[in-house]
Amino acid sequence: MPVIKYVQSNGQVIEADVPLGSSVMQGAVDHMVEGLAAECGGACSCATCEVYVDDAWIELVGEACDIEKDMLTASSALRGNSRLSCQIEITPELDGLVVAIPG
Ligand code: FES
Repeated sequence: MPVIKYVQSNGQVIEADVPLGSSVMQGAVDHMVEGLAAECGGACSCATCEVYVDDAWIELVGEACDIEKDMLTASSALRGNSRLSCQIEITPELDGLVVAIPG
């Protein structure tokens, strides 16, 4: 099972085993990562699951689709490496992925 590393805004890192086919958001919710509300439950309609993808992983994670990009424009914490974590599916290649939670 891939391990995802969540860097909370307090600097604490939570390493979580997240099942294939799940999402980075669901892994965070299941492992009580702080600061990720995920209010819409993964429907790409709230933008409260934003994460910053570590630079080393940007290419592998890939770009947001247009709908996700639209949602991200509502974020006050938007950065070039922002993604909605509910839209990042867990694949074997993402083992070791590092994402940070906006403060
Ligand atoms: Fe709402 Fe990701 S959980 S957009």
